[in-house]
Amino acid sequence: LVLVVDFGAQYAQLIARRVREARVYSEIVPHSMPVADMLAKNPKAIILSGGPSSVYAEEAPGIDNSLFTAGTPVFGMCYGFQLMAQGLGGTVDDNGAREYGRTPVTVGVPGTLLKDIPPAHNVWMSHGDSVSEAPEGFTVLASTADTPVAAFENVGKQLAGVQWHPEVLHSEHGQKVLEHFLWEIAGARPTWTIGNIAEEQIERVREQIGDHRAICALSGGVDSAVAAAIVAKAIGDRLTCVYVDHGLMRKNESVAIEKAFRDSTGAELKIVDAEKEFLDALAGVTDPEEKRKIIGREFIRCFERAEVEILGDSDEKVAFLVQGTLYPDVVESGGGAGTSNIKSHHNVGGLPEDLEFELVEPLRELFKDEVRAVGSQLGLPDEIVQRQPFPGPGLGIRIIGEVTKERLDILREADAIAREEMTKAGLDRDIWQMPVVLLADVRSVGVQGDGRTYGHPVVLRPVTSEDAMTADWARLPYDVMERISTRITNEVSEINRVTVDITSKPPGTIEWE
Ligand code: XMP
Repeated sequence: LVLVVDFGAQYAQLIARRVREARVYSEIVPHSMPVADMLAKNPKAIILSGGPSSVYAEEAPGIDNSLFTAGTPVFGMCYGFQLMAQGLGGTVDDNGAREYGRTPVTVGVPGTLLKDIPPAHNVWMSHGDSVSEAPEGFTVLASTADTPVAAFENVGKQLAGVQWHPEVLHSEHGQKVLEHFLWEIAGARPTWTIGNIAEEQIERVREQIGDHRAICALSGGVDSAVAAAIVAKAIGDRLTCVYVDHGLMRKNESVAIEKAFRDSTGAELKIVDAEKEFLDALAGVTDPEEKRKIIGREFIRCFERAEVEILGDSDEKVAFLVQGTLYPDVVESGGGAGTSNIKSHHNVGGLPEDLEFELVEPLRELFKDEVRAVGSQLGLPDEIVQRQPFPGPGLGIRIIGEVTKERLDILREADAIAREEMTKAGLDRDIWQMPVVLLADVRSVGVQGDGRTYGHPVVLRPVTSEDAMTADWARLPYDVMERISTRITNEVSEINRVTVDITSKPPGTIEWE
C-alpha cells in the first residue's frame, strides 16, 4: 500500500492511478489525517501531492514534520516537494519566477530517481514558489532556468521529490521517475493487479452491508453493472437491482438494457417506469445544476418507492443503496478535499439531503478503465463492459433549455442516427463517447426542398479520453460526419443544422451541462 496525501489539487487521483500503473496499490488520504494514522496503515511509501496553496500561506495545509523522520519512504511532488524541503530545513521562497505548463528541465546528477532519463527533457510545471536550497544531506538532481532545485533525493533516508508533476502525461518520463521512487528508493514490489480490487471490494461490501438488504441503482452503464456484480457476489439475493426508466434514455435503450442486464449481473431486476414524474419535475427548468439536482432527487424517490414494493408487508428495511460512483465523479462534484465543484454528478452532488439510505459505492476509488477490467474479471460480457459512458441524467442534460417530451423525441432520433453511423464506421472503440446535444432554444434559418426552414441545430461532441478527467475532441473522418449530417437533416424535420464541437476538456467539459 502506498498512500497519496491529497493537498487539494485534482492531481492526487492521477498520482494514485500512476502508482497503480506501476503495479503498486495506492489509496488517497486527506492531508488532515494525522501522521500517526497514516503510519498506522503501514504504508510502503507516502506520496505528497501538489496543491493550490503556498507553503507559507496562513491557511496552507501542512503535514507534521515527524513524517519525514518516521522511517517510511516519502516522495513529494510540487507542493509536496516544497513541504518536504521546508520540513527538513531547506528553503522555499517566492523568487518571482512562475512556471506553468511545459518547462525544459536539466538533469545535473541523475542519482537513483532520474537515472536513465535524458539530461534535457520537458516536464509539466505549475508553481509560483520554489525551493532555493535543498535540505542537508540531499543531492540536488535537476534544475530549470528559473528553479535551481527542481528535484532532490536522499536515498539513504528513502526521501525524494520533484518540483514538477510527473503524474501528468505531458511530463516526459514521469512514469519512470515515479517507478524509480517506488521500486528502487522505497523498495515496493510491483505485484498488484486489478484482480485484488474485486476481491477486496467484495469483502468490504460484505462487511458494510452485513445481513441487511440493498438495492442497486442500475443505469445501464458499465459502472452500475460492475457495482451490482460486486454486491451480488457479496450478499447474493439480498440485492435487488432497480432500473429507473426516467424517459431521458436514448432510443430503444431501456429495452436493450433490460435484455442485456437480466442475466449478466445475476441479481434480481426491477423496472420502474417514472417518465411522467421526471418530466413533470423538470417542467420549466433550464438551469443545468437545477436539472441535475431534480434528477438526482427523483431517482432517490423512485428507489424509495421501489423499496416499499420490494418489501411488501415485511417489516424489514432496505438500508443500503448501491451506486456505481467513480472516482472522477467524486472529484468533479467537489468531493475531494479542497477541490472545487465543476458540476454535480447526479449520484454525488445531486443527491437530496434527506437521503434515507446508506450508500454503498464499491467503485468510488476507481477509474473507468479499472472498472472495465474488474467487470471483465467478474465475467460480465463485453457488450456491457465496453459500453461507452452515458450520464445518469441522460438526455436531460443534452437538451440546452427546457426538457420536454417533444424535444426528447427529436433528440432521440438524431442521436440514434449518429450512433448508428458511428457503429457502421467501426468507431465505437476509438471514440470515448459522442454526446449529441440539442440546442433547443436556438433556431436557425435553412432551406430545404425550395422552402425556408426555421429549425434547431444539434451539436456532435465526439471525444477521446483515458478517464474522462481530460478529453480531446475526436477527429472524425469527414465522410462519417457528412453521412451523419445528411441523414439527421433529412430524417429529423425539426433539425436543419448539424455542428461539431471541437473543444478539448479543459476548457470544455464533455457534456454541455
Ligand atoms: P463531463 O461533462 O463532466 O463528463 O466532462 C465526464 C463524464 O461523466 C459523464 N457524466 C455523468 N455521468 N452522472 C453520470 O453518471 C452525471 O451526472 C454525469 N455528468 C457527466 C459524462 O457523460 C462523461 O463521460
